[in-house]
Amino acid sequence: MPQPMLAYRLDTLRFIAVNDAAVRHYGYSRREFLTMTINDLCLPDDDPWSGAEPPRLDPAGPPGLRTTWRHRHKDGTPIDVAVSGVSLVFNGRARVIAVNDITERKRAEEELRQLSSRLVRSQDEERRRIARELHDATSQTLGALAINLGVVNESAGSLKPEAREALGDSFRLLETCTREIRTMSYLLHPPMLEELSLPGALHWYTRGFTERSGTQVYLEMPPDLGDVPGDVALTLYRIVQESLANVYRHSGSRSATIRLSREPGEIVLTVADRGRGIPPGVLERDLGKQSSGSSPGVGITGMKEKARQLGGRLEIQSGIQGTTVTVVLPLLQEGARSAGSSG
Ligand SMILES: Nc1ncnc2c1ncn2[C@@H]1O[C@H](COP(=O)(O)OP(=O)(O)O)[C@@H](O)[C@H]1O
Ligand SMILES: [Mg+2]
Repeated sequence: MPQPMLAYRLDTLRFIAVNDAAVRHYGYSRREFLTMTINDLCLPDDDPWSGAEPPRLDPAGPPGLRTTWRHRHKDGTPIDVAVSGVSLVFNGRARVIAVNDITERKRAEEELRQLSSRLVRSQDEERRRIARELHDATSQTLGALAINLGVVNESAGSLKPEAREALGDSFRLLETCTREIRTMSYLLHPPMLEELSLPGALHWYTRGFTERSGTQVYLEMPPDLGDVPGDVALTLYRIVQESLANVYRHSGSRSATIRLSREPGEIVLTVADRGRGIPPGVLERDLGKQSSGSSPGVGITGMKEKARQLGGRLEIQSGIQGTTVTVVLPLLQEGARSAGSSG
């Protein structure tokens, strides 16, 4: 199929010529095209997150740019297009653009995104289940075991020395096991956000985390964080949980610092440790380019996915000085969405 090509004046943005492929692709007749400007092809700006997106290419901007636009067919159907253009001197100055329909590709990408978000959600559910199981079943069993060992201990005097030693050892193993299970089920525990605000929940969680893991956590946030929408709070909370779990399991660091700050239109969270850093290669892998070898952690992938679902982003800096996870989430109030063009 020949590619749709359109030529328009750079001063008025009015079309001066289009090819048959463009007529077929957009559904306008050639005569209609000649009464229109390039902007008439663009979708009205109804994207609630448009304020957070990079600005559209100015149709009269510098030549030679490749970019994607959201166009629409005459019947209103949105079309995602990749556009490449050149400027020429032609009846004044004009731009000729060639258009590639990438609607299908975008749709496939969206499907992939939904798939990975479903993966993240089922991971969440799985964690809740494991946490509950560890807490409700395994911990209770260990409790019963402690009672039994206590009974045996009462007649420790009549045991052979080796048996007595093994008994003492069993108490120590039991204690370790109980502590590990408590820590793990705590790390996996569903949030307390329903009952507490985000700062309250973070205080509660980090206090418990320090008690169980022995890792000191410094929590820095403004005295008045203001209103944080529920989905943003939950995402931040989950990212703190995952990041602290990573500090505990991988970093070797005995402390972590959490900073939460509010900027105009966004909320910024960092979780930093002073540990050994993420091994080289781990961060390059992500869901899209999974190698068959060691798989990327679902933790980091999940955190990125959660941030992206809310129109935000997550970056990780890591080196021998330690690891810092930074999340930026946009804060657009329901009512202010259409007005949100803060840049
Ligand atoms: N704070 C950290 N310090 C050092 N290494 C880390 C840290 N966070 C993550 N990593 C490394 O990155 C890998 C991927 O992390 P993640 O995606 O959370 O998966 P998982 O924790 O299940 O292994 C970890 O296995 C670990 O090697
Ligand atoms: Mg992890």
